[in-house]
Amino acid sequence: MQVKPVEWRDTVIRVLDQTRLPAEVVFLDLADYAEVAKAIREMRVRGAPAIGVAAAYGLALGAQAIEAGSREEFLSKLGTISRELASTRPTAVNLFWALDRMTRAAGACPERQEILRYAQNDRKRREGSAMSEIKAALVEEAKRIDRENEEADRRIGLLGAELIEDGFTILTHCNAGALATAGYGTALGVIKAAHEQGKRIQVFADETRPLLQGARLTAWELVEAQIPVTLITDSMAGHFMSQGKIDCVVVGADRIAANGDVANKIGTYSVAVLAKENAVPFYVAAPTSTIDPSVKSGTEIPIEERSPDEVTRIGGARIAPDGVGVANPAFDVTPHRYVTAIITEQGIAREPYIESLGRRIQCRK
Ligand code: MRU
Repeated sequence: MQVKPVEWRDTVIRVLDQTRLPAEVVFLDLADYAEVAKAIREMRVRGAPAIGVAAAYGLALGAQAIEAGSREEFLSKLGTISRELASTRPTAVNLFWALDRMTRAAGACPERQEILRYAQNDRKRREGSAMSEIKAALVEEAKRIDRENEEADRRIGLLGAELIEDGFTILTHCNAGALATAGYGTALGVIKAAHEQGKRIQVFADETRPLLQGARLTAWELVEAQIPVTLITDSMAGHFMSQGKIDCVVVGADRIAANGDVANKIGTYSVAVLAKENAVPFYVAAPTSTIDPSVKSGTEIPIEERSPDEVTRIGGARIAPDGVGVANPAFDVTPHRYVTAIITEQGIAREPYIESLGRRIQCRK
C-alpha cells in the first residue's frame, strides 16, 4: 500500500496525522490555510518535500477564499498567506522553494491575455476574471509540484538502487519515506526500488530521538512494504558499523548547501562521522528542490530549535526532572567531506559538489 500523506480534495487538504502513527492511522481534513500552517508547525505533516507539497496546496486553498477588488490587492493578500506558511518551519528549503514557485505562477498569470480578451474599459470584469484564473492556476501549480515531486522520487529510487548490491544491509536515520515526501520516498525510495528489483536487502533503522521518526514512521513504512527492518537506538549505529554489519548509509535531507553540506535530522552528522571512520559509504538521497544554491555552506543553514518538552518527555511521560536545562536543535549539518554521493532525480552528484550540484539545479524548474 502506498500511503498518500498529503492530498488535494478540492475544498480541503487531507493529511495523514503523522504524530499519531503507528498506533493510529488518522486523516485530517484541513479546511483553510491556517490549519495547514498549524499542521506543518505541529509536524502532523513533516519531511522536507511533504512540507513543500502541503504548503503549495495550503497556498492554493488560501487563494480560493481571497476576496479582493483588484489583482494587486489579490496578490498582496496571497503574499500574506505565503508568509504565514513560510513561518512554520525554518530548515527544510522545499517549503520556501514551493511557495516561491507558487508565487511566480500567480505573478505569471495571464494578465496580458486578459487585457486583450476584454475591453480596456471593462476593468471590473477583467480584474475578476484575472483573479479566478490565478486561483485556478495556483491549484494547477500545486498539483504539478506534487506530481513532479513523486516523479523525482521514482527517479531517485531507480538511480540510487544502482548503488545497492544484493545482500546489502542499509542503515537509515529519521524518516525519508513516502510519509516524508508525499511521493515514493527518497532514502526509502532507494531502498524500496532495490527491494522491488529483487535484491535481498535489509535495513537498520535508527529510532531518531527525540520524536522517534525512525521507530514510529520508518519502521512502519518498511513493515508495510515487507522489507526486513531492524530497529536500533541512535547510539547503536557505531557498534553495528564497527562489526561490519552495515554496507552503506542512506539518508534524506532538509537543505543542501551549494558546497554539498547537508542539513538533515539531528543525529545525521554523528552517523556520517561513524560511517567515514568505518569506511561505510554515506549516501544522501534528495530531489533538486532540496538544494539551496543561495546558501554557500552548511553554516548558513538556519537550524530549527524546538520545544524542550520533546526532549524531557517520551510519549507524554516525563523522563527528566523539572527545572533541567534542555537544548533541542531539530537538525544538524553534515559537512560534504563525509558525503560519498548525493542522489538526485537529475543524477548522482559527487565531489566537487559545487560543480556537480550546480549542474543539476540548472535542470530543475
Ligand atoms: O523534523 P522532520 O521530521 O520534518 O525531519 C525530517 C527529516 O529530517 C528528513 O530526513 C528529511 O526531511 C528528508 S525527507 C525526504
